[in-house]
Parts: sequence; structure tokens; C-alpha cells
Amino acid sequence: MSTDLVYLNGAFLPADEARVSVFDRGFLFADSVYEVIPFYQGVGFRLQQHLDRLAYSLRAVRIQIDADWPGILNELVQRNGGGNLSVYLQISRGSAGSRTHAYDDAMAPTVFACCSPIQDIYARGADQVRGYTVIVTADLRWHRCDIKSTGLLPNILVLQQAREAGADEALLVRDGLLSEGTSCNLFLIRQGVIYTPKRSSEILGGTTRELILELAAEAGIPFQEVDIRPEALQDADEVWVSSSTRGVIPVLAIDGKPVADGQKGPLWRQMFDLFTRFQHRLMTGEIR
Ligand code: PDD
Repeated sequence: MSTDLVYLNGAFLPADEARVSVFDRGFLFADSVYEVIPFYQGVGFRLQQHLDRLAYSLRAVRIQIDADWPGILNELVQRNGGGNLSVYLQISRGSAGSRTHAYDDAMAPTVFACCSPIQDIYARGADQVRGYTVIVTADLRWHRCDIKSTGLLPNILVLQQAREAGADEALLVRDGLLSEGTSCNLFLIRQGVIYTPKRSSEILGGTTRELILELAAEAGIPFQEVDIRPEALQDADEVWVSSSTRGVIPVLAIDGKPVADGQKGPLWRQMFDLFTRFQHRLMTGEIR
């Protein structure tokens, strides 16, 4: 499977032939928004939800663009051989041919998309999923984390801090409350109830987070969207993180201490199973 073809401003071309201006505002100012969308067997997973969030991000940063996103992304995936791919789509405000903070609405946005292979997490089964270890640290980001902006420097620095501590992810704390991970949402389970930080401008409204809550509602698993203090992690029965490319992942240790008995929890196994069945229904065309 080739993943070398990218999409840039209306053309499909080999990655090493794609060129963007050095004055592109995405490059100079991270003046751009993005999405990461998994495709399994060539089918977009929650594609509409991703496109709805993209429209939200574009509106929030006032980039105006109309495009047939499903058409472009499906064609990119097909041209790269279909299969299991993660699609990255980035739209920057474009280039004015010089570096100036102020922008002109007439500028043409730069649209870039590429694919990379991903594993079908659900095909492997719950026992194959590797649980995470995480650290807890300060959330250094701006106050519009609901916008999926490419300005990811705080996320990158903190993830690196986690990696250097031998952990997979970092859970972020702002004003005494947990927000999310550097590229994932957060869930805490206690006595059969799923708790997750409520949606606000302090977190990204994750499409996987939304799906977890939908599946929990369908299965009759109680959940609450609430403020969560980091101390609550100490007596959690289970902790999970979620993202599009990783699905729902159990957190087995936090700051070097095991979560409960340090094993994947029963509610996580149930949720993983609900995800697997959901994905199967999507693949077979039973749902869209
Ligand atoms: N990240 N929170 C943050 C800060 C994220 O960057 C992401 C996704 C999520 C989960 O959102 P979703 O379930 O829609 O993927 C939460 C993507 C995968 C990334 O940056 O690569």
C-alpha cells in the first residue's frame, strides 16, 4: 500500500513534489486548523463528526472555505490503495507573500491532506491492546482548546516530558482540574459510573469521546460530564484515554502508581467490545 500521494490545493501528487510557500501562515504562525480521521477498509470512521468539528474550527478562526471534503478525502484514500489509513487534513489561512500578523480575508486558504497506515485496533482484540502509563502535569495551553489548531507546541513539549519519564501520555491539570491528555480525552471510572471532564473551551470535543458517551447511553452504562480533580485519580477503579487513531485505551499506571490493581478493567473491556461491534456495523454498511 502506497501512502505517498498527498492532496494539495486541488491536486493529488507525490509528497516530495508538494510545495507550500515559506510565507504560508500555517508555517509562520500555526494559523491553521486540522483533523485526523481514521479510515478502516477504506471507510471513514465518524467522518461526518470530524467534518462537523472541522467546520466549527474553521468558523472559530474565521477561515472561509467551501470544499467537497468527503469527495477529496475518499479520493485520497482510494488513490493510496484504501485499507486502514489515518488521514491528516490541514487548512491554513494561506500566504500573503510576506510575514505580517494582520490578514486579509481575500487570501486563498492552503489545503493539505496526507495519509499514513494505521492498525485496525478493533481487529486485534482487547488482550492485544497495550495499556498506557501516564504522568500528570500542568496544562500550558491557551484557553481555546476546543479549536483543533495546529498550534501544538505545549502539547508536544509535555508529551516529550512524558516520554522522557518513560510514560506514554500526560494528563493535564489547569486551575486544579483535569482537562485531557496531550492528544486524547480522559475518562475516570468509579463504582460503575463513567466520569469525563465536561465540554468547554479547555478541552477538545473529541469524536471518540462523543462515541464513548453514545455507546454508554445505548448500553445503559451511567456517565457524568463533570469537573474532575487530579486527586480523584487515586481512588479510580479505571482510567481511560481516547482518540480517533487509538480508540479507547486503558491507563494502567499514573505517576508510577498502578490504577486499582494495574490491570485492564471490566468496564474498559465492555466499552472495547461495544466499539468493536460499532466498527463492524460501520464496515458492513449497517450504519453510516
Ligand atoms: N488528536 N484532545 C486532544 C488535545 C486531541 O488532540 C485529540 C485528537 C483528542 C481526541 O479527539 P478525537 O477523538 O476526535 O480524535 C482530544 C488527534 C488524533 C491528533 O492530534 O493526532
